[in-house]
Amino acid sequence: MADTDNYEFSSDSEVKFKDLEAKFPERSSLVLWALHLVQDDVGFVPHSAVDYVAKRVGVSSSWVAGVVSFYSMYYDHPVGKYNLNICYNAACWMHGSDDLEGCVTEKLGIGPGETTKDGKFTFTRQAECLAACGNAPAIQVNHDYHENMTADKMASLIDELSKK
Ligand code: FES
Repeated sequence: MADTDNYEFSSDSEVKFKDLEAKFPERSSLVLWALHLVQDDVGFVPHSAVDYVAKRVGVSSSWVAGVVSFYSMYYDHPVGKYNLNICYNAACWMHGSDDLEGCVTEKLGIGPGETTKDGKFTFTRQAECLAACGNAPAIQVNHDYHENMTADKMASLIDELSKK
């Protein structure tokens, strides 16, 4: 694993970044992509990566830090292999997001903001809408959406992910 105190792209991410540089003449557009590469490398965006990405892209560190804090897809702290991000906004709350949260706590013994001891699951309460209200309640697990969720579906999903 990369050194999170002195982050630099992995060799794989370096190749991808160079490829992206050729595709984006407006360098500030590279910030989002570069942050995805960071997360692919170490699972979150450490402080040192904020400065590193700023330097590589040619924008200020405060710009990059603002992007990390604005988008819920970026984590500024370590998360588990699977981040169970449960939408808690109005539509999902009205359609049973509480039941999903109860399932996670019951099956994994963790509450919002916590990670299982084995580092496999993090339970995140998504305060803002995941933009899947038409199929509420919705959750996001890493890059994948799961909609029309129920406690039973959540339990099955956790069982399935536990085996991976
Ligand atoms: S309120 Fe949950 S997806 Fe919109």
